[in-house]
Amino acid sequence: MEYSKLRTDLIPGVFGARGNTRSARSLARGVTVACLGTVALLLFGCRLDMHVQPKYLPYEPTDFFADGRSERQPVPGTVARGQLRLDELMFTGRENGVVVDKFPFPITRADLDRGRERYNVYCTPCHDYTGTGRGMIVQRGFPQPPSYHIQRLRDAPAGHFYEVMTNGFGAMYSYAARVEPADRWRIAAYIRVLQLARNSKIDDVPESERGKLTQQSAQQPSGQSMGQSR
Ligand code: HEC
Repeated sequence: MEYSKLRTDLIPGVFGARGNTRSARSLARGVTVACLGTVALLLFGCRLDMHVQPKYLPYEPTDFFADGRSERQPVPGTVARGQLRLDELMFTGRENGVVVDKFPFPITRADLDRGRERYNVYCTPCHDYTGTGRGMIVQRGFPQPPSYHIQRLRDAPAGHFYEVMTNGFGAMYSYAARVEPADRWRIAAYIRVLQLARNSKIDDVPESERGKLTQQSAQQPSGQSMGQSR
């Protein structure tokens, strides 16, 4: 209380005769901040060590090394950690240079679930959820990709799908930066699921499961049997 009174008294001209306590207080605060700022500048503003130091900026030339470059080249054959890609199938979809219809690891149910999730994220905008190539971006004018259900792509080896995702294909850009290699294989496996779903016969369904199919198709049109079956 004493403090604010004092401030008001100090600057009577600004706040009138009796003074406006609130304005005076905020002015006092402003003055304090300004003072602290000046002190901070004086204390730290002139410290140059570490700020000014001998160093080369990227691509800056030098006469220290014979080749005139300030950067050094990595030792020939250097491989960054995690970048050693010796497994040809895993990283190219090929074996001895030939695209193959194989997966580099056994595909489990969990891999298919992950493949579906990644496919839905990255591929459906153009290829749509069933793979017919009528995704939302295509409906807005992007070139239409072929359906996964045409004979040529049903016959295409799994490695082809991996390769398309890795390198891009025609109008489609590469997904290598967004989808890591193992996930590309999981997506390729899920595309196989989509293809099978469109082209399967009743014989492909295990006998024990067939009952469920007919049950469902009987229930769907009417929707009335739902309550009864529970
Ligand atoms: C932005 C749209 C777009 C997205 C997203 C997209 N594609 Fe494509 N895709 C295309 C187009 C367009 C083509 C046809 C390219 C051409 O023939 O020039 C194509 C072609 C393909 C083909 C067929 C190649 C062939 O042999 O004809 C495959 C397989 C494929 N894409 C897989 C994928 C997968 C898997 C993803 C997700 C990781 C994906 N695409 C994401 C646009 C897209």
